[in-house]
Amino acid sequence: MTNKPEKLKGYQLAGRKIVMYPDLNFTGRLFGGQLMSWIDEVLAAAAMNLMGTKNIVTKKFGEIVFDAPGLLGDVVEIWYRPVKEGVTSLSMDCRVVVGRGEPSMPEQISSSTVVYVALDDEGLPSPWSKGD
Ligand SMILES: CC(C)(COP(=O)(O)OP(=O)(O)OC[C@H]1O[C@@H](n2cnc3c(N)ncnc32)[C@H](O)[C@@H]1OP(=O)(O)O)[C@@H](O)C(=O)NCCC(=O)NCCS
Repeated sequence: MTNKPEKLKGYQLAGRKIVMYPDLNFTGRLFGGQLMSWIDEVLAAAAMNLMGTKNIVTKKFGEIVFDAPGLLGDVVEIWYRPVKEGVTSLSMDCRVVVGRGEPSMPEQISSSTVVYVALDDEGLPSPWSKGD
């Protein structure tokens, strides 16, 4: 996708994945658990940059909605937008889109909110300060 679509204004691209055969469920659609794993991985990488530490954990996967199926060969784009900068936590909105037709009109296949928490060496929540 060359230009950022209007509906993704304020969002950053976290990563892209191509839907392959092992990613499908028994109905031939992208398996929801696989998509959640992709989201968690690429958003965590973005959160590490923003929070200035790799020592973070996923605290919460907020309501995840699967709006439309991901299909074999789709290039799945995972976008995020920080929505709440807490003391030890960072909440991110996530939108997942696929570009099947008009580049400026990608289809949204999922949305969710994910919360990451920075930890200290003892594994306890620890205040974070801005990285990138
Ligand atoms: C992360 C963990 C150490 C936090 O412990 P905790 O007792 O919830 O700690 P706190 O109550 O101090 O909360 C820490 C932060 O999470 C936020 N938080 C806690 N519960 C939350 C919830 N249900 N929804 C959103 N944010 C929440 C708090 O507001 C706080 O953020 P803030 O400091 O920015 O205000 C603990 O829950 C844990 O280890 N969970 C397992 C993590 C994990 O294994 N994830 C999967 C693999 S990465």
